[in-house]
Amino acid sequence: MQLFDTIISLRQYVNTVRPTQKIGLVPTMGALHEGHITLIEKAKQENDVVVSSVFVNPTQFNNADDLARYPRTLQEDTRKLEAAGCDVIFAPSVEEMYPEPVTLRLNFGELETTMEGAFRPGHFNGVGIVVAKLFNIVQPDRAYFGQKDLQQVAVIRRLIRDLSFPVELIRCPTVREADGLAMSSRNRNLTSDEREQATTLFQALTLGRELLAEGYDVDRAKAAVADFINDRPHFRLEYVEIVNADTLQIASEVLAPGQTAICLAAHLGKVRLIDNLVF
Ligand code: PAJ
Repeated sequence: MQLFDTIISLRQYVNTVRPTQKIGLVPTMGALHEGHITLIEKAKQENDVVVSSVFVNPTQFNNADDLARYPRTLQEDTRKLEAAGCDVIFAPSVEEMYPEPVTLRLNFGELETTMEGAFRPGHFNGVGIVVAKLFNIVQPDRAYFGQKDLQQVAVIRRLIRDLSFPVELIRCPTVREADGLAMSSRNRNLTSDEREQATTLFQALTLGRELLAEGYDVDRAKAAVADFINDRPHFRLEYVEIVNADTLQIASEVLAPGQTAICLAAHLGKVRLIDNLVF
């Protein structure tokens, strides 16, 4: 496995492999867990070369504390990536990626006004900028993103379409802990007490799915999911929404199989968690 921390050195490498080999890109912010590793493994199956970026992207954080607290574990990440069969790590510094502040602004239309777009203003602008830069630097044939961040997948789909990137987007299933909690780098910041309670979110999503299957309308199902979470101490719910799993537009009824998603975000102590179920 090779490690690059400058754009020019990675570009030189890409120029040598690109003519004959398929490149899969897995963008990450590090603090890697089994969820990230499944993306690497899938990319490895489908491409000749797998490049994973490890970069805590400051432009997508709208909360300075969240950025400061974000775990940074490059040594451990390097070991995990090597074990998973990753070929290249790109771990640039902030100065390397942003020698000057970026003034370009991306706006993802309706995706900016609901859920993560609404609660984290500017977040998707930062995600879009860094992923566009990575696409230009790595020139991947395929890029792998987790369903865990479902709205991010929709943002990247738009980015690819609107800017004509020749990249195939692959959405990978959410990997969960044994109790259902979606794996997340931020789970490391939960206290052991909070960690035990965190499974509430998965239970709430499962309840919502069951109620919809029983024939509840979306408003009643959303209210029941919200009550389930609000009844537990320590949680501060931000949103529960039922949406089209591809466009992320608010749905007023259950859609075709595989098309409906329940999405939520909640604070547990100092940690903000998101999760969703697609069904
Ligand atoms: P990060 O949160 O590190 O996630 C990197 C990728 O791993 C994302 O595509 C995310 O959806 C996926 N992922 C996270 N948890 C997962 C889980 N439990 N199961 C499956 N996949 C999971 O998302 C980002 O970084 C950044 O926004 C990034 C795209 C790298 C741009 O900075």
